[in-house]
Amino acid sequence: METRRALVTGAASGIGAACAQRLAADGVHVIAVDRDQAGLDALDGVETVVADLSDLDGLSSLPTDIDILVNNAGVQLVAPIEEFPPERFSYILRLMLEAPFRLIRQSLPHMYDAGWGRVVNISSVHGLRASPFKAAYVAAKHGLEGLSKVVALEGAPHGVTSNCVNPAYVRTPLVTGQLADQAATHGLSEEEVLDKVMLQPVAVKRLIEPAEVAEVVAMLCGPASTSITGTSFVLDGGWTAH
Ligand SMILES: NC(=O)c1ccc[n+]([C@@H]2O[C@H](COP(=O)([O-])OP(=O)(O)OC[C@H]3O[C@@H](n4cnc5c(N)ncnc54)[C@H](O)[C@@H]3O)[C@@H](O)[C@H]2O)c1
Repeated sequence: METRRALVTGAASGIGAACAQRLAADGVHVIAVDRDQAGLDALDGVETVVADLSDLDGLSSLPTDIDILVNNAGVQLVAPIEEFPPERFSYILRLMLEAPFRLIRQSLPHMYDAGWGRVVNISSVHGLRASPFKAAYVAAKHGLEGLSKVVALEGAPHGVTSNCVNPAYVRTPLVTGQLADQAATHGLSEEEVLDKVMLQPVAVKRLIEPAEVAEVVAMLCGPASTSITGTSFVLDGGWTAH
């Protein structure tokens, strides 16, 4: 892994930060990309690039000579479809589906030349299952699942694998922010929101830690990963067993 270069998006926080640090611990040269300068500055041992990934034309200025691409940056918006702002729907698909497409598209030539590459798409249990009020997020993640499989088929003859990683709720600001909001909205304590709302479909009643997701990402980039492609690695505490 010491010879590899990885680009990790959304690396200033949560799962992306854990992936960046985990790959760096394996000796990978990590390029951590995010719009959050302060979050990037808190990372150790990685190169950092501040960029707004929803600016699709700006993506061409990011490094393309990479061996590993972790498409991770994402946001959530919870609203019923009839009230869902169309411009927010477009934004979420741009950030979470079109930006991964652009980054994959511009990185594959280097990977093909090298005869080795790893694309890891941080999807979600919502890449495989729907929940109400998450139209854009669920649509983007389902789209990412399809994109990942096409990359797997096209990349295979060139030594490039592509996989999704599908966590249920992970202890990150994306979720802890929702906990506080939902507790206020429902008049429940944060523990009650966790037990009765978020963990209701999950058999293993706990939040996943970002480091657990990063461990799977490292495995998908490591020496045992050659034949793992076109798949979705589910860490959902049993959600999709229903
Ligand atoms: N937390 C969960 O429960 C959970 C579960 C399943 C999947 N995921 C997925 O994991 C990924 C990471 O989520 P997280 O929970 O770590 O969230 P997070 O909010 O902790 O981190 C997301 C990062 O993405 C960055 N980002 C957002 N929009 C950006 C933009 N336009 N340009 C550049 N950077 C941008 C943010 O600045 C932030 O650093 C997302 O794709 C999310 O859908 C999260």
